[in-house]
Amino acid sequence: MPIYFDHNATTPLDPRVLEAMQACLGGPYGNASSVHRYGRAARDAIEAARAQVAALVGAQPQEVFFTSGATESNNLALQGALATAPAAARLLYGATEHPSVLETAEALRAAGRAVEVVAVGRDGLLDWAAYETQLSRGPVRLVALMRANNETGVIQDVPRAARLAHARGALLHCDAVQAAGKIPVDFDALGADLMSLSAHKIYGPKGVGALVKRAAVELAPLLHGGGQEHGLRPGTENLPAIVGFGVAAELARDELERRAAHCRRLREMLEAGLRRLGAVTIFGDSAPRLPNTVQFALAGWEGEALLMALDRKGIAVSSGSACSSGKGEPSHVLLGMGWPRELAFGAIRVSLGPSSTENEIARFLAVLSELQALGAAA
Ligand SMILES: Cc1ncc(COP(=O)(O)O)c(C=O)c1O
Repeated sequence: MPIYFDHNATTPLDPRVLEAMQACLGGPYGNASSVHRYGRAARDAIEAARAQVAALVGAQPQEVFFTSGATESNNLALQGALATAPAAARLLYGATEHPSVLETAEALRAAGRAVEVVAVGRDGLLDWAAYETQLSRGPVRLVALMRANNETGVIQDVPRAARLAHARGALLHCDAVQAAGKIPVDFDALGADLMSLSAHKIYGPKGVGALVKRAAVELAPLLHGGGQEHGLRPGTENLPAIVGFGVAAELARDELERRAAHCRRLREMLEAGLRRLGAVTIFGDSAPRLPNTVQFALAGWEGEALLMALDRKGIAVSSGSACSSGKGEPSHVLLGMGWPRELAFGAIRVSLGPSSTENEIARFLAVLSELQALGAAA
């Protein structure tokens, strides 16, 4: 049986989500903007999903805006917030953010906005002294800081970052894509003003996500059109995807503790096994991390080569983030944490899910040990 250890890249559709989506695909086909009964049926389904997504993150339903995924949500948060701020107001963002934040920041820089990276330490956690200094150097519109990193699983102290941002009159955007469904996420407790979510990381469909936004935060939309999602994200809603996201969010909330405990137990087994193998570096292991994620390097192995060797054995892992694999550059996350390029080139990420098993961990460790012996022989 092949082994899927790449749940941070994406997750399989939960059969219960599939069932709800299939019912929806063959069911209410009205346009949710229509006032007749067909339209109202679609509208009711969207509002039910909005309430389910809001409940997962302790937000109010009217704070949830559906998008095509977290890439769009991150773009909307960053571009939308800067567009409604004076030209001098800066964007600050963490060095280990997802490319959908980094590349948006680059585009804003190219358009003449002041954007600044905030450094992280070797453990992946924000450099608080650097952050406070940067905040103190003039107006900041928005700070973008992810709750949990997709590669290392390192969990940032977003509430602290938000308090410091607010004290300087800045907003805080949190990419909570990897945290949602794996650890409790509470919009209010995080102190965030904006927050991104994605359905396909929580056993929902691909191509749908949400931006959570406080009412008082003014954003310029990326798209202009028919006024859906209160004009923040116009376009006829993708009903089956939104319904699937809603069900996935409800399941994630109901099953969060069980999923997290299961993954944590397996992750501990895995890390104990990796340490027994020796010559293994586990990245970010001194920081709080997601219960399902381990990023490591095995001495003598280049990450991409190890990934291919594991794939030939039927084991799917990732070398860094899915979006950046194949680029031939080491992970910006590890470089940002100050790891040398050679070690960063060796990175492999294992991300577990509720369907992962002890047998899979044992098999993975056995295969790694074989490959390690091969690597040593080569
Ligand atoms: C932390 C993080 N943010 C944003 C995204 C982008 O999400 P989506 O695939 O919904 O565009 C991902 C997906 O890899 C992610 O891991």
